[in-house]
Amino acid sequence: MTNILAIESSCDETSAAVLQDGKILSNFIANQQVHEQYGGVVPELASRAHLQNIVPVVDAALRKAGLTKAELDAIAFTQSPGLIGSLLVGCSFAKAMALALDIPLIAVHHMQAHVLANFIEEPRPAFPFLCLTVSGGHTQIVLCEDFLKMTVIGETQDDAAGEAFDKTAKLLGLPYPGGPLIDRYAREGDPERFSFPEPRIPGLNFSFSGLKTAILYFIRDETAKDPDFVAKNLPDICASVQHRIITILMNKLVKAAQQTGVTHVGIAGGVSANSGLRAALETYSKRYGWQHYIPKFEYCTDNAAMIAITAYHKFKAGQFSPLSVSAGARATW
Ligand code: KG4
Ligand code: ZN
Repeated sequence: MTNILAIESSCDETSAAVLQDGKILSNFIANQQVHEQYGGVVPELASRAHLQNIVPVVDAALRKAGLTKAELDAIAFTQSPGLIGSLLVGCSFAKAMALALDIPLIAVHHMQAHVLANFIEEPRPAFPFLCLTVSGGHTQIVLCEDFLKMTVIGETQDDAAGEAFDKTAKLLGLPYPGGPLIDRYAREGDPERFSFPEPRIPGLNFSFSGLKTAILYFIRDETAKDPDFVAKNLPDICASVQHRIITILMNKLVKAAQQTGVTHVGIAGGVSANSGLRAALETYSKRYGWQHYIPKFEYCTDNAAMIAITAYHKFKAGQFSPLSVSAGARATW
């Protein structure tokens, strides 16, 4: 039997998961409320909160799994990318535990793990698999030929899709993180009411900075005419913005599927929790004959279960890290 403890601390969630032979036994996530009052994640505060949370979160994950530290076969952690101070907490903790228990250490790439969240539960995709990974820091189209063989074939040139949601929310006076709130208001709004531009970016790359500026000017101009414009039209604004973000993402995913000929298609990352994007993937899948995959809700936003499943495949492939390994804010694949 292979028991792996995984730790995720790349941004503002402290998470620990326990996996046994490819099956997740527990997945605990401690959210950091401290950032809400600042309208975004404050890196220094995130590191301190990780330091407070990590021991109780790991203890809870082990207890729920019914395992002791002595039964672990490896410790995995998110090595990159992310906030360096946050990553260092998980990295140092994992190294200390691997050293104390004299078991292997497995460094995991956060974006690779988001993709592999699709493989945690049935139905699991077949290879080749095409994944649209959309989070607060990244927007990528990833071609997976195997669990550990992935190529980024398209990515954002500026803002990530999650940032487009969060920055729009900020303009509308909604608290951080705004993505889930836009999702909620959008359900009651008309997605065709306001029209926002689709950027003309060649190939499979994305851009969201033009959309952000268009939304900024739109709100400024409409508020000048009617100071209550946002309050009166919040659901329609949210629905129209969300609709545009989704069509930008889906149009590129269609292009990628056509270029690669891949028919197993999925989404991952925090924005894959968006109800409109999840519905759009289903609609497009019917239209284009794709088999589609969406991780369970708790495996979309940052979580350690996705780190554990990636570590499991690295364990089987013998891909361990030396104790000299460190965290990295940026990382190449
Ligand atoms: O993957 P994630 O938890 O963290 C990063 O790796 O960045 O993604 C966080 C992002 C945030 O931008 C958040 O607003 C967005 O995912 N998000 C959503 C929804 N839930 C989370 N965006 C739109 N609709 C949602 N339901
Ligand atoms: Zn993430």
